[in-house]
Amino acid sequence: MVDLAGRRVGPWADRARILHTDGSLPLPLPDGSAERFVATYVLDLLEPDYARRVIEYAHRVPIPGGRLCLASLTWGRSRSGAIVTAAWHGVWRRAPRLVGGYRPIWLLPLIPERSWAVQDDTMVQSWGVSSEVVIASRSEEH
Ligand SMILES: C[S@@+](CC[C@H](N)C(=O)[O-])C[C@H]1O[C@@H](n2cnc3c(N)ncnc32)[C@H](O)[C@@H]1O
Repeated sequence: MVDLAGRRVGPWADRARILHTDGSLPLPLPDGSAERFVATYVLDLLEPDYARRVIEYAHRVPIPGGRLCLASLTWGRSRSGAIVTAAWHGVWRRAPRLVGGYRPIWLLPLIPERSWAVQDDTMVQSWGVSSEVVIASRSEEH
């Protein structure tokens, strides 16, 4: 995956690096070293307390004015979305491996208001599976 990702960001090699980490905090990123902290379909795998710690840690990574960009599985709001989510959650509770360990979560409660100003919180549904996408700006007061 590191090789593949390295090839994909090849055209932007002067400003993109691929690092391999075991996921433990702190991540190998200097403070203020990036424009964006992006986590797509990762927080929905983590224990809620750990996911909160990741978001807390993430505040250090972007430059002033930088952004937090998150996407995760979430609870469906439409009728079909709610049915699929309930079924998914039921499978996850009994046999999490069958759904890759992912379960629906809400992103906003993980994001401290003192650290991030939420710019956008969007729901997306595809094939009955619902996702939440959040973009937040880094607050300078922490
Ligand atoms: C569904 S993939 C998402 C990959 C990518 N973010 C994307 O959207 O295409 C989930 C990723 O979470 C990583 N992961 C699993 N447990 C993790 C942990 N405890 N800390 C950090 N990453 C973890 C997995 O290695 C995997 O790369």
